[in-house]
Amino acid sequence: MARWGFFITFEGVEGSGKSTLATSLAHSLESLGFQVVLTREPGGTPVGEEIRTVLLRRGQEMEGWTEAFLFFAARYQHVRRVILPALQNSRIVISDRFSDSTFAYQGFGRGVPLRLLQRLNKLATLGIQPNLTFLIDLPPSEGLRRKNQGEITRFEDEKLRFHERIREGYLKLAHRAKKRFRVLDGTQPLDTLQQEILETTLRRLREKGKYRGPIPPYHLNP
Ligand code: TYD
Repeated sequence: MARWGFFITFEGVEGSGKSTLATSLAHSLESLGFQVVLTREPGGTPVGEEIRTVLLRRGQEMEGWTEAFLFFAARYQHVRRVILPALQNSRIVISDRFSDSTFAYQGFGRGVPLRLLQRLNKLATLGIQPNLTFLIDLPPSEGLRRKNQGEITRFEDEKLRFHERIREGYLKLAHRAKKRFRVLDGTQPLDTLQQEILETTLRRLREKGKYRGPIPPYHLNP
């Protein structure tokens, strides 16, 4: 059997820039010869994308548990159809959001008990956890301001206090799993963040015996 791959997730509040950072990490790793699967949550599969539409549509109230079950349903499909097969095939999987989003948003944000979310999440993920998680930390007011240009979702309609609880929640989660998390200051320039993310990833891959080359300086991909 092929060797188990490596699983990286990006987390953060709205507008933290994690989608851009996930994409540039995928490009950098590909240019170093790695086979990468870049994906996102909610989504990543046709069923997941349909669930995403329901979850993000503005103007409909939803209970915290309803949200959680929908995210778990999308996640199960994503893990079974995309993440697990890719990891079994030695791929590097990069997901823009994963389990920590549920703990931060439905747990800390909506007040759904964390212990129960963690138990259900274990079923939804088949116990698969990221090897490395980048938390792009940013004051929510700054993130929401940045996002105002883009598509507005049901979550962005929430009050600032909701987003502050999420930020604090993420920092608590990171504190509890220091080895897995790398917390980065999202107000830094993009190229500084890109460089730090690439270096950290290559160092971790090296520790796992998956990379033997030097740690190259980051250069923008065309
Ligand atoms: P999206 O537009 O992808 O936001 P972003 O670009 O910030 O990732 O919308 C995803 C939204 O879903 C985002 O507001 C976070 C929320 N979410 C949860 O509340 N729980 C979850 O488990 C996941 C995966 C996302």
